[in-house]
Amino acid sequence: MSHATNALARTDRWLAPDSRTARSITRARETIPGGTSRHHYLFGPWPIIASHGSGCRLTDIEGDERIDCLNNMTALVHGHADPDINRAVIEQVAKGLSFSEPAEPEFALSRLIVERVPSVDRVHFRSSGTEAVMMAIKLARAYTGRNAIAKFEGGYHGYYDYVQMSTTSTPANWGDANAPTAVPSSGGISAAVPDEVVVLPFNDRDGVERLLAQHGNRISALLVEPLSNRNGMALPQPGFYDFLREVTKRHGIVLIFDEVIAFHVGADGAQGRYGGDPDLTTFGKIIGGGLPIGAVGGRAEIMDLLDPSHPSAKVISGGTYSGSPLPAVAGVACLSKLTPEVFARMDVLGRRLRDGANAILRAAGENAQVAGDGSLFQVVPTAAPLVNYRSIPRDKQAADWLDRIHRGLMIAGVIISHRGLSCLSTPMTEADVDRVLAGFEQAVAGLKQ
Ligand SMILES: Cc1ncc(COP(=O)(O)O)c(C=O)c1O
Repeated sequence: MSHATNALARTDRWLAPDSRTARSITRARETIPGGTSRHHYLFGPWPIIASHGSGCRLTDIEGDERIDCLNNMTALVHGHADPDINRAVIEQVAKGLSFSEPAEPEFALSRLIVERVPSVDRVHFRSSGTEAVMMAIKLARAYTGRNAIAKFEGGYHGYYDYVQMSTTSTPANWGDANAPTAVPSSGGISAAVPDEVVVLPFNDRDGVERLLAQHGNRISALLVEPLSNRNGMALPQPGFYDFLREVTKRHGIVLIFDEVIAFHVGADGAQGRYGGDPDLTTFGKIIGGGLPIGAVGGRAEIMDLLDPSHPSAKVISGGTYSGSPLPAVAGVACLSKLTPEVFARMDVLGRRLRDGANAILRAAGENAQVAGDGSLFQVVPTAAPLVNYRSIPRDKQAADWLDRIHRGLMIAGVIISHRGLSCLSTPMTEADVDRVLAGFEQAVAGLKQ
């Protein structure tokens, strides 16, 4: 079936060398390195610049409107300017932006998360997903008395030194598939860090068994991103997360699920969908309804290391904006609207999108696929089965293909990340999904030109 009748108007004014966008970004580069503080969003020759959004649509400063399938890197599950979230935020603004004192919105959001996620007894708020991961690792170190951590190759957990490892490795430096090399993915990471990070192969039980047998007694935490976009959102093989639960328990390692993105897939997150029963979970993005937030939640025995009145209190925390009322009221408004029916509807729309896009790619003979689960999807430059980070080509040809499909989608009026990460939002209808597919058809046809 062709989706061409749904085609959106061309939206390529941002590319003109004398566009408002080009002038604006050139000026921004004088005062901000690279022109933006979020390098994940940068693509050539320059990014679009947001003006405003409403529902699932975002308008750039040229006045061009696109369907937004990125939604602030998946944070805006209800799309832009959601009226319920806006109302909650505006009511809170009238009461005060932030306080030194605890306030009730923080309590309410913690209760919502505890009610939804069975592995979580207590929640501790931070201001970003990165901070949540830092705190989870600190808790694991304090709880186990060990220093090192384990993480999967490709897993992205923010920009804390200890996790900014092996997220961008290439065949030139990634080493043995059974024991991947810990490769710093940024400059400025302490030279001591690689020795403290054991990198594991995803979906490889034997590899995990072997590496934990070798290093387990020095590992405090094993972090897993349950649907890792850098791994093409490769699904866990059946029982893989229950296996991680069992093997970490055996070695006395704290199992941390990083659900900063994966919490999109259901009320009880990826752990509800794929199992695993982690000790700690890190949250971010959607739990703040579009405002800056992070949180670590988990078993009382570990979380109570943060309670200063507890006899064994060990972990000291700070953060001027941790638990702040604005993100908390936005988060409560956001999560309250995410009912089981809403998740079920998003699942159906997500399937429609992935099936439709894969049919377009197959018909065009492209060596690519659209992977993912629930409302999350990922454009991946290979049609091969996705097992782990190494299933995806890391060469220039694959990067160029992604650049071209991304550019084609932007011109056809659809926003995804230039590295393929994408998601649906609740305001989207079937007709919107079909418009995204029409954009896909246009972008894929453009690859032949
Ligand atoms: C799985 C995961 N963990 C942690 C982070 C870091 O969160 P933040 O960008 O809020 O610091 C991200 C950000 O995209 C993420 O995807």
